[in-house]
Amino acid sequence: MTRTLADWPYPKVMAHRCGGALGPENTLVGLDMCVMAGCGGVEFDVMLSADGMPFVIHDETLERTTNGSGRVCDMNAASLMQLDAGAKHHRAFAGEPLPRFSEVIARCHVLNLAANIEIKPAEGFDVDTGEATARFAAIGWRDAKVPPLLSSFSEIALNAAAQVAPQLPRGVLVDRVPVDWEARCERLGAVSLHTNGRYLDGATARAIKAAGYRLAVYTENDPEQAHRMFAWGVDTIFTDRPDRVRADSP
Ligand code: G3P
Ligand code: MG
Repeated sequence: MTRTLADWPYPKVMAHRCGGALGPENTLVGLDMCVMAGCGGVEFDVMLSADGMPFVIHDETLERTTNGSGRVCDMNAASLMQLDAGAKHHRAFAGEPLPRFSEVIARCHVLNLAANIEIKPAEGFDVDTGEATARFAAIGWRDAKVPPLLSSFSEIALNAAAQVAPQLPRGVLVDRVPVDWEARCERLGAVSLHTNGRYLDGATARAIKAAGYRLAVYTENDPEQAHRMFAWGVDTIFTDRPDRVRADSP
């Protein structure tokens, strides 16, 4: 059965983790950098604090991207809101906060950015994270023309999100395209498959498109390779270099 959104409202190029490599990942200033690079959409990761507040962060632990330590899911929102998520990228970004999902939603609206929200549950929190992310997204984009696209490596989280906000489009997120990709998409009522571009080939891309699904690829930073992928029918590329990879790349 064809699941394709009749109209795929997402840009061909979307910045990975808010601003890609142009700013500190998964931050508000990253969203600004994305816009300054001329890019109209972003992917980012949502994880819950210990008290259930959704934050935008990739790792389960704080050390790599913030001045905190320990696990995100062990800290309350009040403590996470004190952290610096900019200085590890460059001292020029010192003072940049670790953003709550609600702040990123607001900034996406101000900047008119389309969003792919990756639900990123800490281990054991798949259902809670899926539900909370979907609840915030449904309210945050209630009157928006372009709904956010929800995706996750966790089928449990994506399914939980579907129960809470069935109206929001979903993408199945995988590393290599698995043999049962179509069954997975079908099971989750997904409109798209999101896969690691490193392992994708033209024949697989064309098969996914021929089955009626949209296809998104992460994380491609080479304009020539992006051009090749668009020729295979890839709908959207997530990149750390939204200043280089363009819809008409190279
Ligand atoms: O959603 C695409 C991509 O972000 C998945 O990988 O590890 O960067 O979240 P990761
Ligand atoms: Mg991600």
